[in-house]
Amino acid sequence: MTVHKPTPTASDPPLHVAIIMDGNGRWAKRRSLPRTLGHRAGVEALRAVVSAAPDLNIRWLTVFGFSTENWSRPAAEVAELMALPKRYFDSDLDRLVREGVRVRVMGQREGLSADLISMLDAAELRTQANDALHLQIAFNYGGQSDIVQAARKFAQAVADGQARPEDLDEARFANNLSTAGLPPPDLVIRPSGELRLSNFLLWECAYTEFVFQNVLWPDFGPKNLAEAIETYKSRDRRYGGTVADDAFATS
Ligand code: FPP
Repeated sequence: MTVHKPTPTASDPPLHVAIIMDGNGRWAKRRSLPRTLGHRAGVEALRAVVSAAPDLNIRWLTVFGFSTENWSRPAAEVAELMALPKRYFDSDLDRLVREGVRVRVMGQREGLSADLISMLDAAELRTQANDALHLQIAFNYGGQSDIVQAARKFAQAVADGQARPEDLDEARFANNLSTAGLPPPDLVIRPSGELRLSNFLLWECAYTEFVFQNVLWPDFGPKNLAEAIETYKSRDRRYGGTVADDAFATS
């Protein structure tokens, strides 16, 4: 992860927006539909948000597609969630390639089927030269397990004699995370009314702004994204410094 020089305010559009796509199940329940259809509607919402992102000056968009904790859901729902990347890439990958979207799939490949892994790898490969929008899909991802694997990598480097414990600093640690090379998110959006981070980008969110919205993910659209960005732009990002003219502010 590149450590970017902090900007004093959030008045510029965010560079990196991350979204916890929540509320698919409730959306389906309210319509007396199976949860499966809520997740499929969630893919439609993702499509619309990805299309709208460049016009809102978003350069990096990171979305939470499947968490390491989602394995505890009923097998049929897990199977549906595992099928969502195929549903998305079958319909959208050609357009993503054409529109300059670079796709990365963050998270553990371990535990995913061989077919799914080769599809994710192919999507990354086909888009690797793109630079207009960087789309990270967190899939089989957990913030804590990502931190643990980063710690293991560094511990291994020490054990192999390639590093000393005192060589470790924030930048080096960040380079071992699955978000290495990305700027930290400026804004995390969580729709559906829940006020939690749910093990998403724990390290990366040290100074991220949060916007929570009362809309279920399948109903989320470019208008909600634009509203969240407007809220973000009204924030005063201080990175632990003080507000101009306010010597008592500490964070
Ligand atoms: C949480 O809602 C949502 C998920 C676990 C899945 C999110 C995935 C998508 C929206 C599509 C992903 C697309 C790709 C390409 C991977 P929930 O089911 O927990 O909703 P609830 O809280 O209302 O029950």
